Amino acid sequence: MSSHTILEKYQKTFSKNTELAQQANHIFPDGVTHDNRHTEPFPIYINRAQGSKKWTVDEIEVIDYWSGHGALLLGHSPPEIVEAVTQQMPHGTHYGACHALEVEWGSLVKDLIPSVERIRFVNSGTEATLMAIRLARMYTGKNKFLKFAGHFHGWHDSVILGVYPPFEMPVPGIPESIIDTTVICPPNEIDAVEKYLKSDPDIACIILEPTGGAFGTIPTHGEFLRQLRQITQDYGVVLIFDEVISGFRVSPGGAQEYYNITPDLTTLAKILAGGLPGGAVAGSEDLLNFISIKAEKSNPRGKKMPHPGTFNANPLSAAAGIAMLKRVKTGIPHEKVNRSAKMLREGLVDVIDQHELDWAVYGEFSGVKFLIGHGVDGLRAADFDPYKCDYRQLKGGSNALLTMNLRCGMLLNGIDIAGNGGMTMAAHTDEDVQQTIAAFDQTIGWMKADGLLD
Ligand SMILES: Cc1ncc(COP(=O)(O)O)c(C=O)c1O
Repeated sequence: MSSHTILEKYQKTFSKNTELAQQANHIFPDGVTHDNRHTEPFPIYINRAQGSKKWTVDEIEVIDYWSGHGALLLGHSPPEIVEAVTQQMPHGTHYGACHALEVEWGSLVKDLIPSVERIRFVNSGTEATLMAIRLARMYTGKNKFLKFAGHFHGWHDSVILGVYPPFEMPVPGIPESIIDTTVICPPNEIDAVEKYLKSDPDIACIILEPTGGAFGTIPTHGEFLRQLRQITQDYGVVLIFDEVISGFRVSPGGAQEYYNITPDLTTLAKILAGGLPGGAVAGSEDLLNFISIKAEKSNPRGKKMPHPGTFNANPLSAAAGIAMLKRVKTGIPHEKVNRSAKMLREGLVDVIDQHELDWAVYGEFSGVKFLIGHGVDGLRAADFDPYKCDYRQLKGGSNALLTMNLRCGMLLNGIDIAGNGGMTMAAHTDEDVQQTIAAFDQTIGWMKADGLLD
């Protein structure tokens, strides 16, 4: 590394990517197709992936902790999913008709997720939360919904409010009328929830990520979930668990199985479709029947909720989803991902404390979260407790310059992890984890040499 800074070395090592990045800048805003993939000074471009690894256009191998934004519980291209999709491909990618695979896929979801009586497939987590909130409005005849600051439920008008700091700011492009129907509550504060429900009889539902905002960046206790379940029952409000990430990840039956709490509606996506696009809303028959034409007469609104969707339950996603959920059913991947993530978190925490930095690594299940600069003197990473930290610090409190250098340094050391952390996959080996810990140590050393750290 010697005389070159991390950023100089990054520009040189990944130089083949700059051409694509320049072309992309003329096509896509910021050169990317998902906000989170924006990387300074430019992103890497991936050619192929297998197991826990990805290879860039320069043929540089990196261990991946993006895990397909959480969709890849097993790893990249697991043989049984490749086989299932390859077999389906010549039989048709879209029948514009009902098919046996969707029935098998739906049955697996019903078997796995405890609260599920009925399901509708959609194409993404965003579509799923859109449907769930609308169903709750129809069911209750109320208009508003309550969400928690920092929790992410996709990007449609209603739910994108209160996701990013400063959490109370309106989001441009969202009409006032939508803002007026959205209640944003501080996370984990049951008294605040009760205050809102008491003072506003027009709240139809509460939606949350049951393992906490951004898959535990702002973590949530099971006790809070239990209190929420009680209070929503007391006030006649629909409780929606957004299990788009936690579903099939924290246990085969998601967070609701892990915590033994039954929500009214569950939103699913990511792992559900085995690495292909797909989503679902699942829950009680009473609620899902608001989509049913047969139940229209008994439905108090007198009309069903319309639900088309060209790619709903397409045969490729169904084939991949079935193969994935069969593996999920065994419970084995969950043990692996949780164990690797724990080992990784512990190793990274040790490195931080050896370097005496005011950084934190924390997380639950398969999550590995970074807080790069908490500013508390003398607080060891090993003693960091995210529940004692303000949620505004946990989400959005990291130092941007350090985060960028950490990300580039980790890539140079063969690790593709986002600046705010990542997730483990069953394909990660102990060797991968040890390599990641060593890369973290090396990167911090480089950051010190670059004069970025005291
Ligand atoms: C908890 C949660 N809900 C909803 C979504 C949106 O899902 P999608 O990106 O499939 O629209 C995400 C995506 O990361 C998510 O993590």
